[in-house]
Amino acid sequence: MKNLFIGSFVDTPQLGKLRIVNDQALLVDEQGNIAGAIDVDEAVSLSDNPQIQTFRVPTGSFLIPTFCDLHLHAPQYLYLGTGLHLPLMEWLNEYAFKAEEKIDDDPEGLGHRVYSSLANRLIRSGTGAALLFGTICEESNLVLAETFQSAGLRGFIGKLSMDKSSRPTYVEASSDASLSAAERFIHRCRDIVKALPANKQFVEPVLTPRFVPTCSDELLSGLGRLASKHGVKIQSHLAEARDQVNWVKLERGVDDIDVFDRSSLLTSRTVQAHCTFLDPSSLVVLHEKGTAIAHCPLSNVYFSSQPFRLREALDLGVNVGLGSDVAGGYTADIMNAMRQAVIASRIRESYRSENEQEIQRTQPLEGSSSQSTNQSTTLAVHWTEALYLATKGGAEALGLSSGSFIPGAAFDAQQISLIDNMSGKGIGQLDFFEPVTNITEDLIEKWWCLGNEQNRTGVWVQGCKLL
Ligand code: GUN
Ligand code: FE
Repeated sequence: MKNLFIGSFVDTPQLGKLRIVNDQALLVDEQGNIAGAIDVDEAVSLSDNPQIQTFRVPTGSFLIPTFCDLHLHAPQYLYLGTGLHLPLMEWLNEYAFKAEEKIDDDPEGLGHRVYSSLANRLIRSGTGAALLFGTICEESNLVLAETFQSAGLRGFIGKLSMDKSSRPTYVEASSDASLSAAERFIHRCRDIVKALPANKQFVEPVLTPRFVPTCSDELLSGLGRLASKHGVKIQSHLAEARDQVNWVKLERGVDDIDVFDRSSLLTSRTVQAHCTFLDPSSLVVLHEKGTAIAHCPLSNVYFSSQPFRLREALDLGVNVGLGSDVAGGYTADIMNAMRQAVIASRIRESYRSENEQEIQRTQPLEGSSSQSTNQSTTLAVHWTEALYLATKGGAEALGLSSGSFIPGAAFDAQQISLIDNMSGKGIGQLDFFEPVTNITEDLIEKWWCLGNEQNRTGVWVQGCKLL
């Protein structure tokens, strides 16, 4: 059955460009892909066709692409919102490894409960695709994959590879054992969906060296070989925190970007989380390699003692999306990550301009600071740019066609309702003092700032309704 969606559509086809189309119709084919936009008069005539199911987006509501979460530790959902007082390396030992081990002790019971709740939470938060870190155990990751597949949610499933650990009971036996498990997982995860048509395949395996401190050089280079042999995606953590960066430098004598690079793990199928300690020259390297970055502004506040150079990464053309970093970030809601990305960037900009003024005050006549030509004039990012990162930026990093409403793209969308048409009142935290008819940029900004789950009245992935 084809679906016809009639109403208002909002997306960000390019960084910083907000597109609002009122009174339009989008035809979605039987495979759940966008066949094309048609005008409303034509749509009304099509709506009598019994082969087409018509869905009218109510006045005061709009469709917008679903969010992508580019970095989320699924087992850590178990203890979301606890224990964030420690620095990263201590936190991993005290909380993360223990929680993951607990899931691995009971994949079918506790694992299934945690992963089902997570899938549910993501759907209600408007997230249609997530790049996930799991645990070291194959079985738990298969439960995670099956849970996302049966929820109809796009899950990129990372069975962790770690042959070194501070926790003796949570580590793989050797680099060889770790590599065999990683390769087996690729096959077993692909087996879950292999009998299904392409448009019903929602999960895929991702090679996931946890981060450099937990992986030997043999493991990392073996994973690099596996990635190219099987054409799979790769994810890890890169240059995240002061204690982690120092650890790698002390142990390996080089930075972790060099360790990943010499193991062939920086590819155009790689997403690296954080990258807070990368300077612009390393961001250039990522751009050249086509490696994307999962920016996790909330977790950065806890674990990274400096913010990510978001504006510089965008100016250099690096592909960036947003991640919740559950449970290093205490919310799985990407709307929060969008807001936090803007907040972090604005604080950076404030520091920059204050310092510039200070320099001008103390050195009024000398040394006008050198400025590279394609630099933005501000480090702040705009809310429309954050919306791009949460939708199109994330989709591009994952190689998905969705993320904006263009012909041929998968129809991954959420319906946002600003007003209740029965009472005429705003929904959730939204109060309006004038009638809401057409969707305008001001209205979308208000939702972006104040909207929550109550405003989400529909979610579709590949044309299938999940909420
Ligand atoms: N680095 C290695 N493992 C982790 C983890 O579980 N969370 C975060 N935030 N960073 C990590
Ligand atoms: Fe993380």
